[in-house]
Formats: sequence, C-alpha cells, structure tokens
Amino acid sequence: MNDIQFDENPLTSGLADKLLPQACTMVIFGGAGDLSRRKLIPALYNLALDGLLPTQFAVVGFAVDALTDESFREFAREGIETFSRRSLSEEDWEDFAGHLFYQQGNFSDAASYAALKARLEALEPQFGIPGSRVYYLAIPPSFIDTCVFGLHDGGLVAPADQPLPFTRLIVEKPIGRDLPSARAVNRSLKACFAEHQLYRIDHYLGKETVQNILAMRFGNSIFEPLWNSKYIDHVQITVAEAEGVGTRAGYYETAGALRDMVQNHILQLLSLIAMEPPWSMRADVIRDRRLDLLQCLRPIRSRDVDRHAVRAQYASGFYRGKNAPGYRREERVAADSTTETYVALRVFIDNWRWAGVPIYIRTGKAMPKRVSEVAVQFKAVPHMLFNTDTDHPLEPNVLALRIQPDEGMSLRIGSKLPGPKVRIYPVKMDFRYGSTFGDQSPEAYERLLLDVIVGDATLFMRDDAVEASWQWIQPILDAWEASGERWLPEYPAGTWGPVEADRLIDADGHAWRQL
Ligand code: BG6
Repeated sequence: MNDIQFDENPLTSGLADKLLPQACTMVIFGGAGDLSRRKLIPALYNLALDGLLPTQFAVVGFAVDALTDESFREFAREGIETFSRRSLSEEDWEDFAGHLFYQQGNFSDAASYAALKARLEALEPQFGIPGSRVYYLAIPPSFIDTCVFGLHDGGLVAPADQPLPFTRLIVEKPIGRDLPSARAVNRSLKACFAEHQLYRIDHYLGKETVQNILAMRFGNSIFEPLWNSKYIDHVQITVAEAEGVGTRAGYYETAGALRDMVQNHILQLLSLIAMEPPWSMRADVIRDRRLDLLQCLRPIRSRDVDRHAVRAQYASGFYRGKNAPGYRREERVAADSTTETYVALRVFIDNWRWAGVPIYIRTGKAMPKRVSEVAVQFKAVPHMLFNTDTDHPLEPNVLALRIQPDEGMSLRIGSKLPGPKVRIYPVKMDFRYGSTFGDQSPEAYERLLLDVIVGDATLFMRDDAVEASWQWIQPILDAWEASGERWLPEYPAGTWGPVEADRLIDADGHAWRQL
C-alpha cells in the first residue's frame, strides 16, 4: 500500500485538509459473508489501488466459519475478481493480501473476544498500528447486541474521550424494524460506545450522485433561490429495481419496501434534497440540518394512510422475454404473504420552504428497469405567451438528478423550434458523469469506509435521525398492520407498479415520470 496523499474531498472541503486516513485495523464481523465478499473487500482493494489506505493498516475477518488467513485471502481474491470495480492485478493483490488476516470466533462466546483481542495485539505492532480499530458489523441485526456487548465486555473498546487509540463501530442497516426496536438498538449501542464512535451506514449516502446533491444545491448560485414552494411544483423520487426478491426472501419477508428502502435510503435522499443550507460542512452541522428536515415531515395519521400511501406486491409477469413468478411464488416467501414489494407515498414537508409542495415517492422490486432518480418539477410559466394551442401546452421545467445508472443531471427547458413560427419545444441540457469525468465513479462503500478511517461521520446516520425517520414511518406500519389485509394490490412483474399508485398522483393532477 502507498503512503497517503489524501486528495481534498470537495464535499467536506475545509475539513478534508485536516482529516487524514488514520492507522488502524478494520475487523469485519461476518468477514466470511456475502457483504464482505461483494462490497467491503472489493471496496478496500480499490481504496488500496488509489493509494488511499494508510500504510499502517490491516483487515481481520472475524466469523464463525472455519477459515485460515490463507483461505480468507482466497475468499477475498475471489470476491475482488468477481465484484471489484477495477480488475485485480497480481502485483497490487500481493501487497493487499499481505494486510488480510482471519480470526475464527463465535460472536456470543467471551473466549472468542479474548482470542480476537490477543490476535489484534499481536498483529498491530507488525504494522505500526497504535491499537486503533474500526469494527464493521456485517452481520444479521439479531447479533448486534451480542457483538456490541461482546466487544465492550472483552475490553476491545477504547475510551471515547481519548483521541488515540480510537475505536469506531460501523453498523449496517436495518437499525430496528420499527420505532421501539430502533430505540432499543440505539440504547445498546450507546451503552457501550459514545455517539461519535458510531457510524450507522446507509450506502445511498455514499453514492457519488447522492453526495452531488449538496454540491449542486450549495456549490451553485442558480438553484437555491428557486428551491422553494414559490417555484417548485412538486418533486418525484423514484427508486426502481429490476430484480425481484431473489435469494433474500428470508430477510425481506420481515421487512417489505417501506422498511427496506423508504425508512432509510429514500428519507435520507429526501433530507439532502430538501434540507436547509448548512452553515458549515462539519459533520454534525449537516446532520442537524438533515434531522430538522425529517422532523418537518408531516405525520400521516392512521385514518389518512390510504390516501397518502399505496403498497403492492408483484404478481407473475413477463419480463425480459421470460415468465417471472409473482412474489408469493418466490422461494421462501409465504404463500399468503402480505409483504409489500412496492410502495408509493405522497409526502409533505411542513416548513416555510416546502409549504404545500407534494413530494411523491415510489420504490419497488421487479420493475421494468433499475433506475433511481430525483426529479424536481418547476411551476408552469405564469402567463401563456407561447404555444397557446392547448394541443401543445408548454412542458414544465424539470431538473432530474439521475442517481443510477447513467449518473448525471438533466434540465428540461423550453426552446424555440427553428423556423418562422414561434413555437416552444422541450429540450434537455444534460450532464453525465461518464462522459464528463470519464472514469467510473467510486463505489459507495469505498467512500464510506474511507470516511470511517478518516473519522468523518457526515454521511452516516446519527441516532436521532434514525429514530426520527422511524417515528414518521411508524403510523403507516401500524395502519397497515391493523388493516388485516390479506391481499395487497398487485402489479405484474416487469411493470411500473399498481394502478392505485397512478391514482395517488393523478388525484393531484400529476403523473409519474416515464423513465
Ligand atoms: C438495500 C436493500 O439496502 O439496498 C435492497 O436492502 C436493495 O433490497 C438495495 O436492493 C438497493 O441498493 P442499490 O445500491 O443497488 O440501489
């Protein structure tokens, strides 16, 4: 690995000058699992290729699987070969592999923590690591408590008030499955760690295009003056996935689209789109603004849930030339499951900026394609001077932020059609990451892991934000549960969602964007 020259990160500029990746060991709980293989190890490898990892750095996989250092390295290599953004080169791999280790252990066994501690204490001096550690909990949520207390009771957590050595804990979603359980998780975390040691990860916040929302809003002077109810008609957030539930039914059956996508990723996206300008790029200043926004979401009362929220399940359909099964026919899904695979919402933000502006959200699995987008539709021009012919009304301006794929941004404006008549035609001003910056953007996990190594919590969720978003979600969950519905509205796999979702937006005189 190279010595670090940490490029200034435009998002945290000012802070980035001071923050450098710090020598540490990253211990991956569940190191032999899927997240580790698909995301974490490839992300670390790419950071190493970019020379962004500290020289004094080691990775220790910690899990119950019977692996050795050698077999863990083979496992890591296969993960990189299959999932890495950039392909594996023998020379870089040799160097990287020399920093990978494995410790077998049982998460609920004190002796395993003692062995882990001894192993870390033996490894750290070899790399000149001062005992600073990042623990990544890549484990099912039911193990969070066990691991957190295991670390604490095993003497593996450094005092919170000392700068070095530091301990940081990365916790994966889901943080709870409703408000009470999220509070319980936060209580356990805070019994053993101080808030500044905690990094609750939401990988959407690590996506380049999601970070660009702040850069776009506050790094330009032309958007912010228009960013309010005077000029914005409505906002649409779409997170569509082409895949069905795949092999994850065990988890998904306990979650559903509202918990899986809206409570975390989409509300975080919304908070960046709609928050007030922060007065500094310090982590807690930005996190305060995001929290403020979540607290301004108008609660949906139980009796209004049906007017503001639609849930649905994919039924069998024809997709990409193949018959696709309905959700209830998927492996490990109950034949009478009422887990929603699609949700559409109409949301209001009760503050001066957003008064009366509807925000429409839709997300689902088994949709026609994978696409995530935030579209801000501006109000119609106040006085019709052009295209007075009602067959050709003027199209409103739309600023579309494409989060994935084809990351970029486009602005639809009206332009005169060439010719003697004055006719306005919608045209697009397009910016694409791919064509402008060439290289592939880093993966979300690259950015987020680096931020933890650096100690920048801006893109992580604080306890209060997690609880605020559950607080808003909870009445919807309660109303759905109380309804006792045995059948949800359906949409054929490979389509854009149920007719009920079209009605939701149509009731306000709008339509979902065609993507
Ligand atoms: C995860 C959800 O958090 O995000 C998955 O649990 C979902 O169900 C995934 O597929 C989507 O992430 P991305 O980065 O592929 O949009």
